[in-house]
Amino acid sequence: MSGKEIKTNDLHMKKVLTLCCLLIIIPELWAQLPLFPTPAKQSVQKGNFTIHNQTTVEGQDEHSRQLAATLDKELQSIRLARKESKNTIKFILNSTGDQVKDGYRLHVTPEVVTLEASSPSGLFYAKESLLQLARAGEGTLPTCRIEDAPRYAWRGFMLDESRHFFGKEKVKQYLDIMASLRMNIFHWHLTDEQGWRIEIKQYPKLTTVGAIGNWHDPQAPATFYTQEDIKEIVAYAAQRQIMIIPEFDMPGHASAAGRAYPEISGGGEGRWQHFTYHPCKEETFQFINNVLDEIVSLFPAPYIHIGGDEVHFGNQSWFTDPQIQQFIADHNLKNELGLEHYFIRRVADMLTQKGRTMIGWDEIVDSGVSPTQAIVMWWRHDKPSQLVKALEQGFRVIMTPRRPLYGDFVQYGTHTVGRTWNGYNSIEDIYRFPDPIIHFTKNYEDQIIGLQLNIWTERIAQPKRLDFMVFPRLAAVAEAAWTPARSKECSLFMQKLPVFLNYLDTLGIYYFNPFRPEQHAEPGAPEKEDILQNG
Ligand code: ACM
Repeated sequence: MSGKEIKTNDLHMKKVLTLCCLLIIIPELWAQLPLFPTPAKQSVQKGNFTIHNQTTVEGQDEHSRQLAATLDKELQSIRLARKESKNTIKFILNSTGDQVKDGYRLHVTPEVVTLEASSPSGLFYAKESLLQLARAGEGTLPTCRIEDAPRYAWRGFMLDESRHFFGKEKVKQYLDIMASLRMNIFHWHLTDEQGWRIEIKQYPKLTTVGAIGNWHDPQAPATFYTQEDIKEIVAYAAQRQIMIIPEFDMPGHASAAGRAYPEISGGGEGRWQHFTYHPCKEETFQFINNVLDEIVSLFPAPYIHIGGDEVHFGNQSWFTDPQIQQFIADHNLKNELGLEHYFIRRVADMLTQKGRTMIGWDEIVDSGVSPTQAIVMWWRHDKPSQLVKALEQGFRVIMTPRRPLYGDFVQYGTHTVGRTWNGYNSIEDIYRFPDPIIHFTKNYEDQIIGLQLNIWTERIAQPKRLDFMVFPRLAAVAEAAWTPARSKECSLFMQKLPVFLNYLDTLGIYYFNPFRPEQHAEPGAPEKEDILQNG
């Protein structure tokens, strides 16, 4: 036996022993299965199903057969190399429609595993659950019955690639992990002050000029996604039942576009140069309309995020520019805020004409835009009144409050890099969300479509630091979004979390270990000591 084999065997023994110890110490683990997120209903019986060389994977219809072929490949490294009597894994896409979208059943007996759903996404999630069981059991599945469906339709993760750019391979890796966690929305923050990150054919300077720089180095070479990259990533996500929502932030956070095309810049002072689009030039609206045409052609999602946040940071020249003041008077907009709202309503109308629904940060609640045209992302945790107002006005809402759902906040008391605001965002706080604030949504539950973890990257320059801020918090947000409140229990989640950490180890992800906080040290921030601009 070579040294390498001995090492591999040692590692295998260590993993098996860890799992056995966990199962002895924590009997609930037997009952709750190593699944992330915890299913709505689960029961475990005696016995197991072994995935081995004779195990066949079958599907009855075209879609099921495709998924069966994918699973067959994914099981290659897990199959046990021994001969046992033939057993079967069966995919069934039923047409009875008896399950909510994304719901599924997974039934494991010693002879047959049945995965059943009435939607392709549900069947996909059944496969992901099976894979989690197979990985944790190293080829052996416990006999069990799972009946599962999500609490929320929107289970999102937002990545800011304007402040720092991480690239295609990192995004794909995150999409893989999101799929495993049954998360279905990737919100991509692609435009902001520090860089414009998406190729727009009609406006090449957006990338030749606007993509230069990042948060800590304004001269860094241009980094952005070509339209071919975007198509590739959108398709990659779709195969994993993930919808990509691009964000084209306006009328503020527009500095990269303003550097590229100063003729449509609305000015801004000091460090907020070019922060806004010019709010009343027809040329600006023509630009936005043309850019939206290309964005809409690249992203099939029914939603486009247009930002709408923090315009006041850099709209100083709106107060002094005679053309802007005249426009406010001519259109009876009262003041600069009225002008901002006019801008939002015009963009909402553009998107309606393109057959898409606008999403905006919670400032848009006050814009007078119709709730039939827009969805609100509630982010200002210190303004629950904005959430309530959005609901009262009839908006659908996605919850992503800074506390606890911003991933750029510190996650442990001794951490020094990242944001705080009367505390930090621990994995437990994320897990428990939204139940501590759910009373604000009383009688409007149907308008809450889901929740999302947001990662702003001013203080995250390296992939290693990104991993550290995202994991394992992503597993907590996935469970907050998926598992019904009655089946959620933070202590049980924390008890099984080592299984997820093992999975991250196999992927080479550098994560924060909440059980041994010193084990994975906090990676440093970019050198520049920065003032955070996200309020
Ligand atoms: C935001 O954090 N400015 C939405």
